[in-house]
Amino acid sequence: MIDLRSDTVTKPTEAMRRASYEAEVGDDVYGEDPTARQLEETAAELLGKEAALFVTSGTQGNQVAVLSHCFIGNEILLEEEAHIFYYEGAAISAFAGVQPRTLKGVRGALQPSDVAAAIRDDDIHVPETGLICLENTHNRAGGAIVPVQNMAQIYEIASGVHIPVHLDGARLFNAVVASGHTISDFTQYTDTVQICLSKGLGAPVGSIIAGSHAFIKKARKWRKRLGGGLRQVGILAAPGLIALTQHVERLSEDHRRAYKLATGIANIEGFQLANQVETNILLVDIEKKGMTATDFVADLKTKGVLVSAFGPTLVRFTTHYDISNQDIDDVLQILQRL
Ligand SMILES: Cc1ncc(COP(=O)(O)O)c(C=O)c1O
Repeated sequence: MIDLRSDTVTKPTEAMRRASYEAEVGDDVYGEDPTARQLEETAAELLGKEAALFVTSGTQGNQVAVLSHCFIGNEILLEEEAHIFYYEGAAISAFAGVQPRTLKGVRGALQPSDVAAAIRDDDIHVPETGLICLENTHNRAGGAIVPVQNMAQIYEIASGVHIPVHLDGARLFNAVVASGHTISDFTQYTDTVQICLSKGLGAPVGSIIAGSHAFIKKARKWRKRLGGGLRQVGILAAPGLIALTQHVERLSEDHRRAYKLATGIANIEGFQLANQVETNILLVDIEKKGMTATDFVADLKTKGVLVSAFGPTLVRFTTHYDISNQDIDDVLQILQRL
């Protein structure tokens, strides 16, 4: 099977498995796991923040961030197809008790004027705006890179009225590698950030959230409340360290393969590219094939290729660590024969 459903499907490398085996561990709830400490310190420095915390998943990281920033009854601003709104089971409402207010973005980027207009006044009738959430790269916008300049403008607006900005940077390193910007070019315009170790970076488990010391202190407590205080977590942190320190630059290979796949697909009758491929995700409209995305996904599976349905006639292809040049050639041949 050639699995292009997501960059979450990668298997840990031999080096990661060995690092888990050899990791020095301790009880992390007592703050005694040296490998987790090392991962958190490395991540904080890389992300340009005071402190960082290992969490079990991107969803847990985002939710801990919302819980740490907001009070019940706050309103938070998000892009209308942001992962936090679209794919996290309404956890922001169920756990943090906040009201989402979604704004339509342009290729995943919130428009600064829309953000400014959506921030609530000090009025007894309305909720307080508690947080602005950004996403970079933007998953449902097809791995689109939200420009640094856009983030800077939103951060300036938010800081002016003392509203924190959280970045869902599940694939921030894809944006970094593809744009040529540094990590802190992006993170300087956020108060807090969540990055996934287990997507393009290829670790088996985990995410990092980073921010000020005060934020991480709160976040550590929320993580514990959610059952995310782990014990000998160095076993998971060790492959995370490899992901963070050794697997960033190679993301450009995933981008090159996604681009090759996109160029090939654009030349096959019946397929229409639905995004401008900037990173490792491509969206393909298969309407002209006269099938639904669900039927198309099922049909392609019988031919040895896994992809994700992303809309009624929209399909997502995602490249990652376990996809080779040969896989791309094979997929193009299979699509050509469909
Ligand atoms: C943009 C974005 N944020 C957050 C997540 C959640 O990550 P996890 O699956 O680790 O909970 C994902 C997962 O695909 C994502 O694409």
